[in-house]
Amino acid sequence: MIDFIHISKSYPNGDIVLDDIDFSVSPGDFVIITGKSGAGKTTIGRLLLRDLVPNKGRIVVDGEDLNKIKPQNIPLLRRKIGFAFQDFRIIPDKTVGENIVVALEVAGYDSKKIPTKVKHILDLVGLSGKEDLFPGQLSGGELQRASIARSIAGDPPILFADEPTGNLDKDTSVEIFDLLQKINSDGTTVIMATHDVTLIGLNIGRHIHLEKGKIVKEEDFTESKKDSKRKDKNDEKEDTNEDKKIA
Ligand SMILES: Nc1ncnc2c1ncn2[C@@H]1O[C@H](COP(=O)(O)OP(=O)(O)OP(=O)(O)O)[C@@H](O)[C@H]1O
Ligand SMILES: [Mg+2]
Repeated sequence: MIDFIHISKSYPNGDIVLDDIDFSVSPGDFVIITGKSGAGKTTIGRLLLRDLVPNKGRIVVDGEDLNKIKPQNIPLLRRKIGFAFQDFRIIPDKTVGENIVVALEVAGYDSKKIPTKVKHILDLVGLSGKEDLFPGQLSGGELQRASIARSIAGDPPILFADEPTGNLDKDTSVEIFDLLQKINSDGTTVIMATHDVTLIGLNIGRHIHLEKGKIVKEEDFTESKKDSKRKDKNDEKEDTNEDKKIA
């Protein structure tokens, strides 16, 4: 689905941000890209959106080489990727509901189905009842939910959530993380960029750790391994495994 093949990227007058980065994402994956501030996580997202081009290497999305993509096909690429931006990019003078409507209109959604779809998305992200509030009236966690709502409105196969827990407390971060897992379990491939190491400890999905422009560590906690871990837990404590609601 997504291949980053020997990608290097530097900005004009800057150091190398990504140095020979190689990874693939398969449909249905939940991938967490970790690394300190400045490690290049957002740069990976912008390369994926073809907002930036690499200095070296190739990025292939659904068989399309982004080095060769025709300009008229870039909007189609971007429709495949819901991007929850680090700075939210929510329209401040529109309500939560209106923000979702705009995203659905941009995605070319059938206008007759929009009200039902908006309700569904609000419910999914946990913002039912908040649709008439303006972004400035939301808490940080709710704002993040609204941003995610907008980015998944057009049912993109891929969601890139850039630092979705950036300014949130631990409990709210875990809630947002749960929401991303829910979106993933509904079939969306999720890539999340974060410097939040507390989430990394949750041992869910695939982890790709960036340091000084390189991938220094990769771990995989997806289903088969999770099952074996859960089995181990069951052996220890038979009746307390409901903390993992991984259906
Ligand atoms: N437009 C730009 N021009 C020059 N340098 C840039 C530009 N954008 C990013 N950089 C530099 O590239 C490096 C990686 O930035 P990037 O935003 O990808 O990091 P990040 O891992 O997302 O960090 P954070 O966790 O703070 O969001 C940083 O050193 C940054 O200063
Ligand atoms: Mg960033």
